[in-house]
Amino acid sequence: MIARCLIFLHFVSLGSTANLVMMQAIWRHGDRAPGELPYPNDRYNETYWPRGWDQLTNILRPTKVKCPNYDLANSNEEAPLAAQINTEYGQMFKWLQNTTGMESIDFWNINDLYDIQREIDHNMPQPSWLNQVFNGTTIMDHIRELKRITRNQEFNSPTKAKFRGGMLVNQFLENMENLKANKTTKNAIMYSSHDGTLSALLYALNVSNDQLVPYTATVIFELYDDDTVQLFYKNSTTTAYPLAIPGCLQICPYSQFLELLEGVRVRSLDILYSLCGTYSSSSTSIPTTGTPSISTSTTSRTI
Ligand SMILES: *[C@@H]1O[C@H](CO)[C@@H](O)[C@H](O)[C@H]1NC(C)=O
Ligand SMILES: *[C@@H]1O[C@H](CO)[C@@H](O)[C@H](O)[C@H]1NC(C)=O
Ligand SMILES: *[C@@H]1O[C@H](CO)[C@@H](O)[C@H](O)[C@H]1NC(C)=O
Ligand SMILES: *[C@@H]1O[C@H](CO)[C@@H](O)[C@H](O)[C@H]1NC(C)=O
Ligand SMILES: *[C@@H]1O[C@H](CO)[C@@H](O)[C@H](O)[C@H]1NC(C)=O
Ligand SMILES: *[C@@H]1O[C@H](CO)[C@@H](O)[C@H](O)[C@H]1NC(C)=O
Repeated sequence: MIARCLIFLHFVSLGSTANLVMMQAIWRHGDRAPGELPYPNDRYNETYWPRGWDQLTNILRPTKVKCPNYDLANSNEEAPLAAQINTEYGQMFKWLQNTTGMESIDFWNINDLYDIQREIDHNMPQPSWLNQVFNGTTIMDHIRELKRITRNQEFNSPTKAKFRGGMLVNQFLENMENLKANKTTKNAIMYSSHDGTLSALLYALNVSNDQLVPYTATVIFELYDDDTVQLFYKNSTTTAYPLAIPGCLQICPYSQFLELLEGVRVRSLDILYSLCGTYSSSSTSIPTTGTPSISTSTTSRTI
C-alpha cells in the first residue's frame, strides 16, 4: 500500500513539474494479406483477398541488407533450437505434411502455416483439423507458438539485436540529440513499420516481452524538459505499458539512457556494413537518410 502511494506521488509530482518536449513513436502497420497460399491444400486462394497477395507490405518492405555476420550468428544460435524442435514436433510435422499437401515441414518452413492466422483474422472459416489436439494443445496453437519461438529467435541475443535494431535505436537517440542541440525543431516523429522492425527495436533496447508484436502495437519514446526519457509499449488499444531499459528506472535520466544504449547503437550504414563483414559499402544503392523510413533495418531476410 505504501509502495503504491509512493509510486503514485512520484508520478504525480513528476507529471506536474516535467513537460513533454518530444514524442517519437513507431508502430506496426495494420492488416495485410498473406504473401502466397499458406499451404497447397488451402481453399483460400488469391481471389479471396480483395487486393491480392501481400498488399500493403510492398510499399513498406525494407531494403534487404546482406549481412554475413548476422547470418552466421543467427545460424549458430538457431541450430540447436532447430534440432530440438524438429525432434519434438517430428510427428506433428509429418501429420501436417499429409494434411496440408506441403512437401515437407520442419523448423525452417513451419511459419508458412502462420498465414492461416491472417485468414482467421478475416473470419474465413477454417478446416476442423486445425482444432485437432496434439500433445494437449490444438494444432493452431502449436503453429502460433512455433511462430513466436522462431520469430523471436531472429532477434533475441545482444549480437542479433544489434545487427537488426542498432540503426533504429540510433535513429531515435539521434532525433533526441538533434532536438536538444537545436539542429531541428521536430518534436513529434512517427514511423509506420513491420512487426520485425518493432521486435528488433524491443530486443535492441532489451525490453522485449518475448511475445509476437500485434497489429498496431506501438513503441513510444518520450523526452521531458527535466532531462528524462520514458519508454512505453502500447500493444493493445487500452494500455501503454511503461518499459525500463536494464540499468535504469522507467523514468530515466537522458544522459544515462544514452550511455546505457551506446553499445547497441549503430551510427551509420557504413558502420553496419563493417560490422556485417560486407565488403562493398555501396551506400548509394540503399536509401537510408532523409525520410524517416525504416529501410535501414538490418537483415538479409525480409523484415
Ligand atoms: C481461386 O479458386 C476459385 C475456385 O475455388 C477459382 O474460381 C479462381 O479462379 C481461383 N483464383 C485464382 C487466382 O487462382
Ligand atoms: C508435449 O507436452 C509436454 C508436457 O506438457 C511438454 O513438456 C512438451 O514440450 C510438449 N511437446 C510438444 C512438442 O509440444
Ligand atoms: C494422409 O491423408 C489422407 C487423407 O487426408 C488419409 O487418408 C491418410 O490416412 C493420411 N496418411 C497418414 C500417414 O496420415
Ligand atoms: C538483456 O540483458 C540481459 C541482462 O540484463 C542479458 O542477459 C541479455 O542477453 C540481454 N538481451 C539482449 C537481447 O540484449
Ligand atoms: C537551444 O535553444 C534554446 C532556446 O533558444 C536554448 O536555451 C539552448 O541553450 C539551446 N541549446 C543549445 C545546445 O544550443
Ligand atoms: C503486451 O505487453 C505486456 C507487457 O509486456 C504483456 O504483459 C502483454 O501480455 C502483452 N499483450 C499482448 C497482446 O501482446
